[in-house]
Amino acid sequence: NDSMNDKTLLKGKRIVITAGPTREMVDPVRFFTNRSTGKMGYALAEAALQLGAEVTLISGPTNLIPPAGAHMVEVNSAEEMYNAVHSLFKQADIVVKSAAVADYRPREILDQKLKKKDGNLVLEFERTKDILKSLGEMKDRQFLIGFAAETTNVEEYAKAKLHKKNADMIVANNVKETGSGFGTDTNKVSIITRDAIRHLPMLSKQEAAKEIFKEAIKQMGTRHEE
Ligand code: CTP
Ligand code: CA
Repeated sequence: NDSMNDKTLLKGKRIVITAGPTREMVDPVRFFTNRSTGKMGYALAEAALQLGAEVTLISGPTNLIPPAGAHMVEVNSAEEMYNAVHSLFKQADIVVKSAAVADYRPREILDQKLKKKDGNLVLEFERTKDILKSLGEMKDRQFLIGFAAETTNVEEYAKAKLHKKNADMIVANNVKETGSGFGTDTNKVSIITRDAIRHLPMLSKQEAAKEIFKEAIKQMGTRHEE
């Protein structure tokens, strides 16, 4: 019986999920961010809880209600998210990096509000740390799930990310496709692992989340037999 197994699929598993955008301050009143609403990450947290996991949700700023039963860690910047994930990594069984982490941040955060002047404004940005890549470099038993939001060459780019970041799974979606974009309640994703790619149909983010965990558990099982 599927629904009975479901409640115990992730029993005893510690799962860390990151969700939402990050916010990179420019000055006390301005920041850079992206279009992530956090819906996929929160759906993953809810699904994991329903499947019996112990869930920590590390969330950037969203307007969503924290899933009942999840340990919440609220962060703003990519740096804060990096520190939060790393502090929980050793004890985690599965880490899901569904957050849309800023790739760049202003090179300096101004103490005072930037006043306008005539002419153009040039701001300098520096790279943030790649959280997923850093986890891939230090993982031992943890199963690492990354996301790839692409607008073109989805499979090719996602596969490259799997290898480059030493992840165990990449969930890829085309954010330009209707129903797969930012803020939707649905998602059409492809699950990419070392030796296979599975295209899921358009599903609710809840259903997609469940499929992602089912596949992860399957992969973790085969991994132990190696
Ligand atoms: N990621 C991360 N830390 C960053 C940037 C990305 O952990 N500083 C993670 C995301 O959470 C996601 C995966 O890496 O799980 C892929 O993110 P994505 O933005 O699609 O890829 P990038 O490697 O940042 O490359 P690009 O944006 O150029 O496509
Ligand atoms: Ca990126």
